[in-house]
Amino acid sequence: MREGTAPFISFLLLGGCLMAGSAGSAEIPDYDQARWDPIHFKPAIDTASDKQCLECHQEIMEHRVRTQSPAGVKASEALAWYQTLDTYQGEQDTFHRRHLVSDYAKHVMDLKCKTCHQGNDPREETAASSATGSTDLTQRKHVDPMLCAMCHGQHNGTIMGVPPGDWRETGKLFNNSCLTCHAAIRTNRHQVNYLKADAIEAAANEDSDVCFGCHGGRAWYRITYPYPRHLWPGGGDQAPEWARGRPSESDPRFLVGMTKTAKAAAAPIEEK
Ligand code: HEC
Ligand code: HEC
Ligand code: HEC
Ligand code: HEC
Ligand code: HEC
Repeated sequence: MREGTAPFISFLLLGGCLMAGSAGSAEIPDYDQARWDPIHFKPAIDTASDKQCLECHQEIMEHRVRTQSPAGVKASEALAWYQTLDTYQGEQDTFHRRHLVSDYAKHVMDLKCKTCHQGNDPREETAASSATGSTDLTQRKHVDPMLCAMCHGQHNGTIMGVPPGDWRETGKLFNNSCLTCHAAIRTNRHQVNYLKADAIEAAANEDSDVCFGCHGGRAWYRITYPYPRHLWPGGGDQAPEWARGRPSESDPRFLVGMTKTAKAAAAPIEEK
């Protein structure tokens, strides 16, 4: 946390309020206890609700970007290349808010803290350098960047039979709509617990930047993401050469709670 002690102090204050409101024996954890709270690690993080995380990390939702940069550029007058998609709306906002609470994010996605956060090693910021380190963690990262690449990788036109080049140009050949082909191809898609599959299809019918946005339009990475390849009606059962070895189902962790999300969110808060 860049601001040094401020989040820690607000954490203590918040902790104090929560404890005052709760009925009993629980004590206010000190900094180290809170930092090493099992909720940060497996297996507890897999069942943690956003509500539980936000009891200590409310600042994630409350932080706002500066209205003006130190050099004097007004946020209201700045627009980055990835903010020129038709789906981008509203004032400049923080990374977390753009994924969790922007109107567009809430419309097409259902990301939770644990979708991205799978734990890290606070002792060394390196996954396996201590005796108790976990090799499951991503080296020196709080979040595995391959996760970002699912929605921020390059548009893989080559395998699609789309001519090489930027979709902003080549798309004209296809009426600027991915659905020209994808109304019938790879139609079994987005059935995961952090996306709203039906809302995505409906939004894409209104606005052709919807599909492109997550598949090339906001590409921070030079690589394409190797998506799982689900079979689809009329698609046959033979995978093409480039897809050999690809899974035919989404990562099991993204299928958890597909039918019982509400129940998971209502799970009791762990005793400290
Ligand atoms: C009991 C309070 C508490 C809970 C609950 C909690 N955290 Fe934390 N978390 C902390 C403290 C304290 C730190 C250390 C903050 C610092 O050093 O600035 C921290 C640090 C972090 C960090 C930064 C890691 C680092 O080393 O800088 C992340 C990311 C994080 N928590 C995510 C989560 C997520 C996701 C959840 C829910 C699964 C969660 N936390 C639940 C108290 C908590
Ligand atoms: C879209 C993925 C994503 C989601 C969803 C997400 N985070 Fe993060 N979070 C990140 C990334 C990336 C960082 C920066 C990690 C780094 O610096 O290594 C981060 C940083 C943090 C930090 C460290 C302090 C900071 O501001 O950098 C905390 C605490 C944190 N997240 C808590 C949460 C909580 C609580 C939630 C759920 C309400 C959440 N995050 C949801 C990706 C996410
Ligand atoms: C499930 C899809 C998804 C994942 C996973 C995801 N993002 Fe995003 N990201 C989006 C969408 C959609 C937007 C546009 C939100 C909007 O316009 O309000 C966005 C916007 C952004 C922005 C621009 C914010 C702004 O103010 O314009 C950044 C930076 C970003 N993502 C980085 C990341 C990083 C880093 C990760 C991995 C930790 C990540 N994203 C994971 C879908 C995703
Ligand atoms: C000319 C028809 C066509 C157009 C236009 C098209 N696609 Fe595709 N797309 C395909 C084909 C064909 C495949 C591969 C089918 C297979 O798996 O055998 C594919 C695969 C994909 C995949 C999966 C890639 C992978 O690695 O598994 C994604 C994601 C995708 N398309 C998104 C889009 C988006 C977003 C657009 C619009 C920006 C778009 N496509 C435009 C035909 C098209
Ligand atoms: C909010 C971000 C987002 C939007 C919007 C989006 N996608 Fe995706 N798409 C993803 C993610 C993430 C996956 C990987 C899901 C998984 O793990 O199964 C994916 C997977 C796919 C796949 C692979 C399907 C398979 O076999 O599993 C295709 C094809 C695809 N998307 C096409 C599209 C098309 C066409 C649109 C517009 C109708 C679209 N996407 C809109 C994020 C998005």
